[in-house]
Amino acid sequence: MTQIRLDKFLADAGIGSRNQVKHQIKQGLVSVNRMPAKSGDQKIAPETDRVQVGDMVIEYRPYVYYMLNKPAGCVSASKDPTCDTVLSYLPPPVRPDLFPVGRLDKDAEGLLLITNNGPLAHRLLSPKRHVEKQYYVEVDSEIPSNAVRLFTEGMDIGEKHPTLPAVLECLSPTTAYVTIHEGKFHQIKRMFLAVGCTVTYLKRLRMGPLILDASLPPGGSRALKQEEIDALLQ
Ligand code: URA
Repeated sequence: MTQIRLDKFLADAGIGSRNQVKHQIKQGLVSVNRMPAKSGDQKIAPETDRVQVGDMVIEYRPYVYYMLNKPAGCVSASKDPTCDTVLSYLPPPVRPDLFPVGRLDKDAEGLLLITNNGPLAHRLLSPKRHVEKQYYVEVDSEIPSNAVRLFTEGMDIGEKHPTLPAVLECLSPTTAYVTIHEGKFHQIKRMFLAVGCTVTYLKRLRMGPLILDASLPPGGSRALKQEEIDALLQ
């Protein structure tokens, strides 16, 4: 039977980053078959060994993580009766428990995290956490000179509350980077409409610490690297 490192087992189970779980092991919080674990590199048989953190028995359900450069034309869902979903761009076999973390509009492109780690998705999408998202935007007309200030101050886009302060960096009269800390429906498009511009192209470049791999073409995907997973779990 395949054995794996205890710290990887715990990190894959969503207990924390490798460094965090190593710390928990050092603190004596982790046991294997009711004996205190010695170190993160201790090997365990995930299907048969009983691993506990405190009183909690850790189930073996390895989490997987993919980065997709979403192409325009597909929907950010696991299933759709009429349209291609983002899961159809992953290499087969595609696990049935995978889902995209958050949504990009059908016509939008760029970074989408796809995983089966529900607690992580919940943390990344929680409105309380204000996880940063950066987009590249092209619009149909000149971005007005007061837009940077309006984005910073927070804007009325027809919601109960104004938007949280956002950062607008104009690259040319009709292109910009925008960083927001929330995820209201069509938020970027509605923020630009509020300053008189229609978004003609939208691409997400970053979500929290996760940066879109510039070598991925639209529709391209890859598994996350261990350091990317650790950064998300921090
Ligand atoms: N804002 C939008 O308007 N659309 C997206 O897909 C993401 C952010």
